[in-house]
Amino acid sequence: MTETYTLSDGLVVPKVGFGTYKLNGAQGVNAITSALDVGYRLLDTAVNYENEGTVGQAIARSSVPREKILVSSKLPGRRQHYDDAIATIEESLYRSGLDYFDLYLIHWPNPKTDLYVEAWQALIAAQKFGLIRSIGVSNFLPAHLERLEKETGVMPVINQVELHPYFNQADQRKFDTEHHILTQAWSPLGRSTSNNVLKHPEIVALAEKYHRSAGQIILRWQTQLGVLPIPKSTHVARQRQNLNIFDFELSTEDMATINAISKPDGRIRDQDPAYYEEF
Ligand SMILES: NC(=O)c1ccc[n+]([C@@H]2O[C@H](COP(=O)([O-])OP(=O)(O)OC[C@H]3O[C@@H](n4cnc5c(N)ncnc54)[C@H](OP(=O)(O)O)[C@@H]3O)[C@@H](O)[C@H]2O)c1
Repeated sequence: MTETYTLSDGLVVPKVGFGTYKLNGAQGVNAITSALDVGYRLLDTAVNYENEGTVGQAIARSSVPREKILVSSKLPGRRQHYDDAIATIEESLYRSGLDYFDLYLIHWPNPKTDLYVEAWQALIAAQKFGLIRSIGVSNFLPAHLERLEKETGVMPVINQVELHPYFNQADQRKFDTEHHILTQAWSPLGRSTSNNVLKHPEIVALAEKYHRSAGQIILRWQTQLGVLPIPKSTHVARQRQNLNIFDFELSTEDMATINAISKPDGRIRDQDPAYYEEF
């Protein structure tokens, strides 16, 4: 049983979830079923991953009861008009074969398109209709969050952002915490070979010191920051090790060492939500 966070609306979530980007079809079902078997209870999907059906199949085949699993999906940029958003949430449910989502997030703010407040109103309504338990966002900057609060009076309970040792989001985390928003980390391991953070000398040295893998050091660092990482792995041994990070603790000095690795241009790609848009 992994440790948990309690969101501002009372939803209890595990401190580590499972990412499903690129897990599609039969291989995806196998990987997700295996993740449920080893103990993951939060699955992160999105309309744009084209695998909500895969996630639903894995849940249907798993021996873990639906009510013990938290499923989170995301609204794509092209469906941010109110009516489109409601229909998309219903379609997400049909595809996954689920009656409700535990979490649903706006995938990107897309500030030039400027429809994210309308999309947020749709999520608020879908929550009232009982389609979604908790509502959140992804890749939102403080200005976007402040606007949601000003125009709707409702703050998201989760903000899922790119977060790994090369881009630790110190300012965004501070803002989220001050507004009772839990920060979730996407690409928590820097998507492995995409930025090689798992091979950073300081991380490798800490892995040796604590007799853990580099991945475990990074994921433990994130949970000690109060962040919820959602690592993805197709390998059962890695799925297991990414979840087994609750029987050791990084010292204050070692936390500071990892915090110091971050750099302003540390994103994996040029995806600053201030201007980057995804549909
Ligand atoms: N909201 C957004 O805009 C957004 C954007 C990107 C991602 N996401 C979400 O975040 C999730 C995680 O991000 P991600 O999939 O991009 O990257 P990630 O979880 O940082 O890294 C996944 C990669 O790391 C490898 N890996 C996993 N555990 C490892 C370990 N212990 N040691 C060494 N290598 C390991 C995996 O390989 P194997 O599979 O071969 O083990 C895979 O290649 C996604 O799946 C998705 O759900 C959200």
